[in-house]
Amino acid sequence: MTDFTANPFRSPVFLDRHAAGAGDLRDEIVHGLLATPATIAPKHFYDPLGSALFAAICLTDEYYPTRTEAVLLAAHGAAIARAIGPDACLIDLGAGDCAKAAGLFDRLRPARYLALDISVEYLRDSLGALARRYPAIAMAGIGTDFSSQLDLGGQASAERRWFFYPGSSIGNFDPAQSRAFLARLREQTDPQGGLLIGIDLVKPQPVLDAAYNDALGVTAAFNRNVLRHLNRLVGSDFEIGQWDHRAFYDPRHGRIEMHLEAREPVTVRWPGGARSWQAGERIHTENSWKFTLAGFEAILRDAGFRLDQAWRDERDWFALVLARPV
Ligand code: AVI
Repeated sequence: MTDFTANPFRSPVFLDRHAAGAGDLRDEIVHGLLATPATIAPKHFYDPLGSALFAAICLTDEYYPTRTEAVLLAAHGAAIARAIGPDACLIDLGAGDCAKAAGLFDRLRPARYLALDISVEYLRDSLGALARRYPAIAMAGIGTDFSSQLDLGGQASAERRWFFYPGSSIGNFDPAQSRAFLARLREQTDPQGGLLIGIDLVKPQPVLDAAYNDALGVTAAFNRNVLRHLNRLVGSDFEIGQWDHRAFYDPRHGRIEMHLEAREPVTVRWPGGARSWQAGERIHTENSWKFTLAGFEAILRDAGFRLDQAWRDERDWFALVLARPV
């Protein structure tokens, strides 16, 4: 483990632990494109433009989760800080610009802050500025695909590890994957540690449908941009204009589904392969599961956590959950 005390300026440590090689990534993507129905993993949304489009989605009138969660974090920051206590090791999963965790620092006063994101480059600027603002907190940025492997790069303290997983990103896993992912967190949590997680709650369907079909078309651009990204990753020749954005709530599964639908018959080629789609055929790009508190409590229990506290907004649209290991 890096000895932070030996670093008088406490400049953040940056590690790139992104394991998947270019070949593995390509195989995984091509496998999805050839599946029936075709799928693209949602992690591929987040190239630089995709990350910027996601940030823009969070500013649309219709996409309520980010705003609602921010209000909950601000309103209950003191209670969260009391529950976690000072000097914890805060591990931010999918930290992005680190803004959500940074909003907790004044009250929480963690000893360490580990920001994990699929791109370490994305963390560099935000974490550097944060380290200057909070010199008492030892910081590290780790580039890792934590959805497949939880690699903390030897940067976490042995005790009082608190995982922070906001934004209902857990909803982008299916229930079995969520259980497995939370169980991996549980394995790395000590009895004094835990989990602070944001979950999007089941609510009237028109609200959900609108959140993923904003009037400005930002979510549509975010969805279609994944094809640009794929063209770069595997050398495919997707034409964006041939694909429409489709997003809808499926009450049977309790999830939003996002797809790209071919406007006309389409053939896409990439080095070593090709696939054709009929007009109206779809590529499944994302699921976003919505939860009830009781349902999420059961998922936590299966993963070895117990729900300790939950804070909800007055419309009951979003919840912040604090869980501890059993
Ligand atoms: C990151 N994730 C929680 C977002 C969601 O709501 O599932 C991604 C997103 N997709 C479309 N809009 C936002």
